[in-house]
Amino acid sequence: GIAFDGERFLPIEKAMVPLEDRAHQFGDGIYEVIRIYQGTFFKLEEHMKRLERSAQAVALTLPYEMSKIMELIEKARLASECKEAALYIQVSRGAARRDHPFPDAPARLTMTVRPVFTEKTTALRRLGQRVMTTEDIRWSWCYIKSLNLLPNVLMKQRALDAGFNDAIFVRDGLVTEGTSSNIAILRDRTLYTHPANQAILHGVTRHVVLELAREIGISVVEKAFTVKELKEADEAFTMSTIAEIVPIRQVDEALIKNGNVDEFELTHLLQERFAAQHS
Ligand code: PDD
Repeated sequence: GIAFDGERFLPIEKAMVPLEDRAHQFGDGIYEVIRIYQGTFFKLEEHMKRLERSAQAVALTLPYEMSKIMELIEKARLASECKEAALYIQVSRGAARRDHPFPDAPARLTMTVRPVFTEKTTALRRLGQRVMTTEDIRWSWCYIKSLNLLPNVLMKQRALDAGFNDAIFVRDGLVTEGTSSNIAILRDRTLYTHPANQAILHGVTRHVVLELAREIGISVVEKAFTVKELKEADEAFTMSTIAEIVPIRQVDEALIKNGNVDEFELTHLLQERFAAQHS
């Protein structure tokens, strides 16, 4: 792997940022996670567009032109010498004496590129996951990919401690998304997923999956569903950059299709089509 600390490329263990970086003290920054398959970025432009949107939403000026950022990203990928990898890019509002108003400091862009271990995600994609529903206690600007992930981290751990693989957020009785994924259900060959509004992150994977679904003749309805509808779905799955499309076998105490993810025909078809996008 390799890191970029805002000035130079160096081994990840050696990379440091100042104590008073605002990402550190306020979570004042944004990020993206981008998958590299066989040495090639997947949907790099979509991720960078979202980074720009997140930056704009929090009034953060990126420290370089996008063309320069793209060059740095390409340099990082090459220097990492990784084939199956993930690039993590973060932009913080810079370092300054701790004080709430925006500092008079340049934003700091940092990156890591490190290998992804595909064994675990491959197994999950085959076996499916068990999820626990939990109240969506996050703020109301979830479309911003902000560094403030405390609710996500807390609920993920709560789910793990309770013997589940992940938590699914529920706001006002409606399912929003997972702690680091979007979620969809299938019912009578129709796919339902929360609309891309302020309540969810507008996932790049979600966008790809919706396109693939339409291509194979699945109707797509961007409408939120209830926990009951999730539990009674024909099929359900989460979508994200690292885990990709992961079937949901169980929601709280309820099994979907008796827990037989092997019978999730449309989910499997989408998984196949998705794999074909990057191979
Ligand atoms: N998570 N929703 C949330 C809350 C997320 O954190 C993510 C991604 C997604 C899926 O977005 P995409 O398909 O663009 O990866 C949805 C990243 C991978 C993370 O925090 O590690």
